[in-house]
Amino acid sequence: MANDPALERLRNHRAELAIVLGSGLNALLSESGSEEDIPYSEFAELPKTSVPGHAGRYVLGNINDRRVIFAQGRVHLYEGHSARDVTAGVRLLASVGIKRLILTNAAGLANERFSPGSWMMLSDHINLTGTTPLLGSAQFVDLTEAYSKKWRDDFRRAAVSENLVLHEGVYAGLLGPQYETPAEVRMLRSLGADAIGMSTVLEAIQARALGLEVAGFSCLTNWAAGLGSGNLSHEEVLETGKAAAKTFSRLLDAAL
Ligand code: HPA
Repeated sequence: MANDPALERLRNHRAELAIVLGSGLNALLSESGSEEDIPYSEFAELPKTSVPGHAGRYVLGNINDRRVIFAQGRVHLYEGHSARDVTAGVRLLASVGIKRLILTNAAGLANERFSPGSWMMLSDHINLTGTTPLLGSAQFVDLTEAYSKKWRDDFRRAAVSENLVLHEGVYAGLLGPQYETPAEVRMLRSLGADAIGMSTVLEAIQARALGLEVAGFSCLTNWAAGLGSGNLSHEEVLETGKAAAKTFSRLLDAAL
């Protein structure tokens, strides 16, 4: 593994920051002055992805002259992968020198004070997947500050300076792949969830266990079931994500 050429290419980019791009958020890349990409298939330790909108590759890019590895596409528990598989990318990124990790996702909106199409910075999460990448390891990781408070302060300031709407709240991570019922959404809201999705929480846990600093952002692509007028569709999620990517790119530019 030490001489693996694909790993060497990632390592040679000498990035300390990585950004995982969620559903429909690939449009972020066209803004990033990216140079080079490496398909996930070149890494034996990574599982294969199968969801439309989740291409699998690392893109070696820059934001304001800061080297960044973009992870375009992730695998999910609902594809039948284990919690270890879903977080293999986080371990790989840590092994090539990443110290700070930004996790993005598309999520359903449960807080009626927020607006669909906008972004929410994760202040915390509720892991409702029923599993963890640390299973079997007896690692009692402290998650008091799963999402870096200092980093959140920076992003909040950047949003104000750029005049961008940036909500802040709690992300509930579920197994999926079905969307929630309206009754489940009411339950999740009463548990303190502001946004609901099917990713991110396991990656955040794995990253914290490895000592990485983590930030998380949900693109609020749709009202969670029962709160909006229509039905939910993956196409709507991808479309809204695409439109919101530009806003996020401005936020990154201002904060980094
Ligand atoms: N629920 C769960 N996951 C999601 C949603 C949703 O409404 N929208 C995008 N990902």
